[in-house]
Amino acid sequence: MYNIKTITKDLFWVGANDRRIALFESVYPVPTGVSYNSYLLKDEKTVLLDTVDKSVNHQFFENIEHILNGRNLDYLVINHMEPDHCAEIGTIISKYPDVKIVCNAKTQTMIAQFFELNLPDNQWHIVKEGDILETGSHKLTFVFAPMVHWPEVMVTYDITDKILFSADAFGSFGAIDGNIFADEVDFDLRYMDEARRYYTNIVGKYGPQVQALLKKASDIEIEIICPLHGYVWRKDLTKFIDKYQKWSTYEPEEKSVLIAYASVYGNTQNCAEILATKLSELGVKNIKMYDVSTVHPSYIVSDAFKYSHIIFASTTYNMGIFVNMEILLHDITAHNLQNRKIAVIENGSWAPVSGNLMTEIISKWKNTEIIGNKLQLKSSLKNLQEKELENLAKEIVNSL
Ligand code: FEO
Repeated sequence: MYNIKTITKDLFWVGANDRRIALFESVYPVPTGVSYNSYLLKDEKTVLLDTVDKSVNHQFFENIEHILNGRNLDYLVINHMEPDHCAEIGTIISKYPDVKIVCNAKTQTMIAQFFELNLPDNQWHIVKEGDILETGSHKLTFVFAPMVHWPEVMVTYDITDKILFSADAFGSFGAIDGNIFADEVDFDLRYMDEARRYYTNIVGKYGPQVQALLKKASDIEIEIICPLHGYVWRKDLTKFIDKYQKWSTYEPEEKSVLIAYASVYGNTQNCAEILATKLSELGVKNIKMYDVSTVHPSYIVSDAFKYSHIIFASTTYNMGIFVNMEILLHDITAHNLQNRKIAVIENGSWAPVSGNLMTEIISKWKNTEIIGNKLQLKSSLKNLQEKELENLAKEIVNSL
């Protein structure tokens, strides 16, 4: 049976949740699932904005058929060609063979890469930035947002109702639990961390491109944001936009310390725990600590974007950095993190090298400073090193 959600009197959410997916994009754990949002505008013409992932296509088509109630589908707007949103283009065309495909030239090229459709020229409605599509009482315009998150991405703006269909931007991991609007749930408590993890891991690399979109968006009046994942925003838009402003400029949200450690037998962990205690005694609040072997790197990447200071502590392994720590550091590097203050702790029983190797990777991060001297453990932290550890804690606190 259909499961639609009403956004305005003539705009409906026709998406669906996938609560069984283990790894989004085959990489990111989504323990609370994910929603694939699609929107259907019922005007003199009917307009579907994006489709969904193939895993939820049954629910999606039930929803569309219910809203159309026998009417034809006139337009399919494609904002983003990643298959979690475009998988059902072919089926839409089979079911509604007269539908016009509204997209930009780059999207048209990608459609030919993903599908073999052979549509006639008059079935394409290729748009340039700023073009307007009138659908009756609504006027839609198109704003290009390359690399938020793929090069073909555009966002669609309903001039009539001041609604931004923002593609991947302003999305979140996590299925939507009945409600559709972010103001109907305790978003900060239940979803903000997942929104950050989604942003940082999916588009975190593309801060300047997100900045370009935010600049374009600042020139238009927006009352509702309809993203492709997660809740729809109609209140406190600036709160979420401000988060995007911080994330996309790599500005920390929290002046505090994140500690990520790799420990095989607990000795490196012991040092990290004691350092965390000393930081706490010096007044640092909200310290966060992760064992990189037990936590998926996407959670640590997310908090690396949140925290101003990061301590990396790793044992030496195979004459290198411990494998999970190395993966984490490469992941953070790939996501372009910058503007951070970092301290490094290494451990090694006969040839400790992980500290220098970690520093080598971290030194490539823009505007990032290494604080204090590298702390070296030979198998375990010794009582004689307490002063050294305290000095490192003080240097970290002084730089907060
Ligand atoms: Fe949700 Fe870039 O796709």
